[in-house]
Amino acid sequence: MSERKAPEILDNDELLRQKKIILRIRENNELEQLKTGRQKRMHVITFGCQQNNSDSEKIMGMLAGMGYTYTEKREQADIIIINTCCVRENAELKLYGNIGALKHLKADNPSLIIGVCGCMMQQEHAAETIRRKYRHVDLVFGTHNIYKLPELLERSMNEKYTLIDILNTEGTIIEDIPVLREEKFKAWVTIMYGCNNFCSYCIVPYVRGRERSRKPEDIIREIEGLAKNGCKEVTLLGQNVNSYGKDLSAEIDFADLIRLVNEIKGIERIRFMTSHPKDISDKLIYTMRDCKKVCEQLHLPFQAGSNEILRRMNRKYTKEEYLSKVIKAKWEIPGIALSTDVIVGFPGETDEDFEETLDVLRQVEFDQVFMFIYSKRKGTIAAEMEDIRTYEDKHRNFEKLVKLQNEISRKANETYLGKTVEVLAEGFSKSDPSKYTGRTRTGKVVNFIGNNGIVGKLVNVRINEIHSWFINGEMVNEVK
Ligand code: SAH
Ligand code: SF4
Ligand code: F3S
Repeated sequence: MSERKAPEILDNDELLRQKKIILRIRENNELEQLKTGRQKRMHVITFGCQQNNSDSEKIMGMLAGMGYTYTEKREQADIIIINTCCVRENAELKLYGNIGALKHLKADNPSLIIGVCGCMMQQEHAAETIRRKYRHVDLVFGTHNIYKLPELLERSMNEKYTLIDILNTEGTIIEDIPVLREEKFKAWVTIMYGCNNFCSYCIVPYVRGRERSRKPEDIIREIEGLAKNGCKEVTLLGQNVNSYGKDLSAEIDFADLIRLVNEIKGIERIRFMTSHPKDISDKLIYTMRDCKKVCEQLHLPFQAGSNEILRRMNRKYTKEEYLSKVIKAKWEIPGIALSTDVIVGFPGETDEDFEETLDVLRQVEFDQVFMFIYSKRKGTIAAEMEDIRTYEDKHRNFEKLVKLQNEISRKANETYLGKTVEVLAEGFSKSDPSKYTGRTRTGKVVNFIGNNGIVGKLVNVRINEIHSWFINGEMVNEVK
């Protein structure tokens, strides 16, 4: 007798299963709404990077399908989801404070559902802490099973205790999860998941798994759909976008993907993050130069200036290699705005090592630098390295870094004074609602006086005032 194998579950079958549950929960919610006359509401709190923002848009998409509308006020919500980050310790501490603060909401409204998900939950000790200490949490899930939210939610509604469901392996990519995007004119588009680099300080590869690229046809289909709905700007997302395609059978790399996106009608601007300096190729720089929609902006984290520290960080490039790639990018793409990430106080970093970091800042003159004090992450290689410097020592160096970069950023902003730049008008400024707000191709926030009906359009703005974190101006005309 031949052995009968269970039919393989295809990605779409899995999604279909979840969509059926979405509809079932929606029916229940609608029935309840008829009885109570009250609309069901959701609130989602997101920590961490753009990857988490993008995941939260999927979570909100599924919850919207279940009939929940978004509320800014957590005390009005029927379901609250916290999407966590664990890249540094302070992100974790913030989370516990937030979950603790929800306890009284649950006491006031026992039918409130509280879910916690994301990177931090991929660590066993964190999920366990929630189970033991935060019993008012109904549901815990991880980064690999977001698509299962409908099923988990339905199960947790019938459970007395916290339901914990964490997958330790990545599984396949599930396409077409409903998405509720925060913005209409610009969108984050994940092109790959995970990271293979294992920088010695970093937890991301442990909580996000190995690199997996989405198929180019799926990415293009998504961006074409966005363009049809009026989206003008896409940011292609991945922990190391330069590795895109290495795991696919199709012969395609990141530069090829950019060229495909560049062809999509309606899309006017392309950005991407993050690029790893070891993998940034000449081909990518030439593609940025030649594709008119690719913005003159590059986020290229260097982390530390000392070659010894870079070696111990497992970054696989030297200060000199980094600087030569920067010169190439500046040469080929005039006016390019560069940004970077820096870690201060990696184990064993001396004041001489730190001077090398300051030297990179002076030489490159970045537009923006994201600075972090090293935070020990359990399970990483660096957590085992001897770290004798005090936090005060590290903080002193951190302050030096901030001071130097503030001067450089201000100088970079001043070069805009009197210039006319292209801005995508995104809406009204929060700090001054009489003005519109948007970004230049180089990523600078511009608040400006403009005409009615420009939201969602590209306009030329003449810059007349400089601040540290934004610049002000007046609209000249619409870009034809
Ligand atoms: N994949 C991206 C982003 C990773 S996380 C990249 O490689 O650039 C974002 C930033 O957090 C990193 O660039 C690094 O500067 C910082 N970071 C990561 N782990 C850290 C740690 N243990 N302590 C302090 N900063 C850290
Ligand atoms: Fe972390 Fe390095 Fe991967 Fe970035 S490239 S996510 S810093 S391991
Ligand atoms: Fe944090 Fe996870 Fe991003 S650990 S930085 S949210 S990939």
